[in-house]
Amino acid sequence: MRTIDIDLPDHGYPVHLGRGLLQDDSCWPAHLGDGEILVVSNETVAPLYLDTLLQALGNRQCETLLLPDGEQFKTVDNWQRILDRLVEIRARRDAQLIALGGGVVGDITGFAAACYMRGIRILQAPTTLLSQVDASVGGKTGVNHVKGKNLVGAFHQPAAVVIDSATLDTLPAREFNAGLAEVVKCGVIGDTAFFDWLEENADEVAARDEKAVDYLIERSVRNKAAIVRKDEKEAGVRALLNLGHTFGHALESETAYRRFLHGEAVAIGMVTAARLSERRGLCDGGTASRIASLLRRFDLPVDIPGDLGVQEIANALMLDKKAVSAGLRLVLLKAIGDAVIDASSPHEDIVSAINDSRL
Ligand code: NAD
Ligand code: GLY
Repeated sequence: MRTIDIDLPDHGYPVHLGRGLLQDDSCWPAHLGDGEILVVSNETVAPLYLDTLLQALGNRQCETLLLPDGEQFKTVDNWQRILDRLVEIRARRDAQLIALGGGVVGDITGFAAACYMRGIRILQAPTTLLSQVDASVGGKTGVNHVKGKNLVGAFHQPAAVVIDSATLDTLPAREFNAGLAEVVKCGVIGDTAFFDWLEENADEVAARDEKAVDYLIERSVRNKAAIVRKDEKEAGVRALLNLGHTFGHALESETAYRRFLHGEAVAIGMVTAARLSERRGLCDGGTASRIASLLRRFDLPVDIPGDLGVQEIANALMLDKKAVSAGLRLVLLKAIGDAVIDASSPHEDIVSAINDSRL
């Protein structure tokens, strides 16, 4: 087992990494308080891993709650179901939730933990690549509102994160690749050597070679930890993690969240942001195509489908919650490994970059 400490003032926590950790009964007890335990999972992940986790928790009495599977269920109603269950089992302040699943289960369960009795303990057991390298670390929790993704939420850091990379063995290829988009993003925003490593080892990564996958998870978590330590509540540098997300969210909302997985939309968004950076003269020509080439090796889309309207996407961008009145606040690139936050892109450059990115 390897451990990365997220050493935040007052509420630091460990991220444990390793194969088979879910069933490692030495991993859990240190992070559990005396109170009730409610494990939240979904109907896809529970049949695969719930028994393993419950066995590792051994002699502790556990309640379980299974949510329906899908981003469309990341709602206030399902958050309420977790709270109802906590009330039903008379959970006290020293109770804890364990989120077993991908980012959807992690975000919604984390938000319930943030709110129940003004905050109880949550342990994250992420089972998708995307949630292992990104969503489970850093304390962003929340649910979607009909008017927008992640519009309701809170910062609430977990008590521990237990990443069992063996759970990825059952993850469908498309979901695995979507997680790789966030891994590539991690290199693009601040770790050139990692980006180079991903290029050099793309075949092993695409083939899910265990050593390569364990390495990229650890390096991504270390990078995210460094950013969260500097800026827990996204007052500054943490916003760099949103590279590709503003364009990505516009694509997701324009396609009613049905066409792209989150990571796929981020892949297209990242390349669009790089094309805009080139157009603005911020980075060298060829930057976008280098990023696109790597993403293609992981079967990720990099262009905006031609049937989506430029104007519609541009309008959706302006609704993004990260848009500010002074101008659309975007993460742009000076180079691979050197991202900046910039609100000075003229509207016509943004529209041109969308056009450049359309098939
Ligand atoms: P997800 O939770 O929907 O999981 C993807 C699919 O994989 C689901 O069908 C799930 O049931 C299934 N699955 C999970 N683990 C599996 C396994 N081991 N084997 C087989 N199937 C498995 O999606 P995701 O990509 O994990 O997370 C996306 C969510 O995360 C979005 O809601 C996004 O907003 C959120 N997110 C949050 C943060 C954060 O900082 N909190 C960061 C990035 C993304
Ligand atoms: N996924 C973006 C963040 O954690 O800030």
